[in-house]
Amino acid sequence: MTSHSDAIKFAYWVPNVSGGLVISNIEQRTGWDIDYNRKLAQIAEANGFDYALSQIRFTAGYGADNQHESVSFSHALLAATTTLKVIAAILPGPWNPALAAKQIATINHLTNGRVAVNVVSGWFRGEFAAIGELWLDHDERYRRSEEFIRALRGIWTEDSFTLKGDFYRFTNYSMKPKPIEPLPEIFQGGSSRAARDMASRVSDWYFTNGNTPEEIKKQVDDIRAKAKANGHKVKIGVNAFAIARDSEQEARAVLDEIIAKANPEAVQGFADQVKNAGKASPEGEGNWAKSSFEDLVQYNDGFRSNLIGTPEQIAERILTLKDAGADLILLGFLHFQEEVEFFGKRVIPLVRELEAARDRELVAAE
Ligand SMILES: Cc1cc2nc3c(=O)[nH]c(=O)nc-3n(C[C@H](O)[C@H](O)[C@H](O)COP(=O)(O)O)c2cc1C
Repeated sequence: MTSHSDAIKFAYWVPNVSGGLVISNIEQRTGWDIDYNRKLAQIAEANGFDYALSQIRFTAGYGADNQHESVSFSHALLAATTTLKVIAAILPGPWNPALAAKQIATINHLTNGRVAVNVVSGWFRGEFAAIGELWLDHDERYRRSEEFIRALRGIWTEDSFTLKGDFYRFTNYSMKPKPIEPLPEIFQGGSSRAARDMASRVSDWYFTNGNTPEEIKKQVDDIRAKAKANGHKVKIGVNAFAIARDSEQEARAVLDEIIAKANPEAVQGFADQVKNAGKASPEGEGNWAKSSFEDLVQYNDGFRSNLIGTPEQIAERILTLKDAGADLILLGFLHFQEEVEFFGKRVIPLVRELEAARDRELVAAE
């Protein structure tokens, strides 16, 4: 048997909220409107990207003053592309599983199975207050998300689906039409113990904030051990903010400028809100529990993954993240259209070369 590893996948953050991906007054040539985003999706699929991930926000936070809704926006991007998969963020609470299952099943039919979902559990208490949604404690939010995911899967695969849950109840429900195969993939975001436990039971994919390969590996080992015990398989997606430039010096200078021009009030406001996330878990672990001011300037700790440097350096580091267990790299950029293209043309081919070289080594060692 020939050994080879699966090619690592690439996703980008859909900028469907205003203000770009860093909380900084540095110039960001990134639009949040549909025309900008349609073109971006087309550039991404033509340049080796597998997925796009949309965000769900109901109100401003960290300065994202305008926010387009994730599911309808994702559908518009799918309609403008042919191979890209688009992952629509869904927040239990505002969404219930009956509506979400039906909405996503319809989009699955409309797009030849290219839609996926990212079930997020919420960290932004002010947002819940603003829209009159009940705020649950950290681990309760994950209990609800797990039931939500079980309901989605049950509705999509079973006839006469019944669930007597603590949050959701279904009785002999047969949703038709079912999604066409492949079923929509279910991603989730969060890094706390509750998030990892949920991933090891029900999710297809676990998304985590940016981090070093060592810290990613700890999460992966924990999830994979638990998933194995549960007879479940889960893949790992790692966030990163990429700054790929012809010289390392140039790339570092961009990072320095992002930090120097950070908007301290907005970053502090965000820091105050995220205490409701990972830090609020019983273990005090999870996303943002250990983030510094600089980390929070990219609001999913994307600098920590250190994809900042030349294409060669970045490709090597992606392989190190892959060795740590990453199956997918989720990317943010300063100037999305330009940099998605640059990344696709200059970095992804190097990653593929390194992966092929690895495979040859594995075969030679057999
Ligand atoms: C890749 C990724 C995408 C996320 N997208 C959203 C989103 O669109 N909307 C949202 O409210 N939260 C989003 N979150 C936040 C998570 O749902 C979660 O609340 C947060 O990561 C804290 O989780 P933890 O306490 O388990 O670490 C995202 C998280 C990750 C890692």
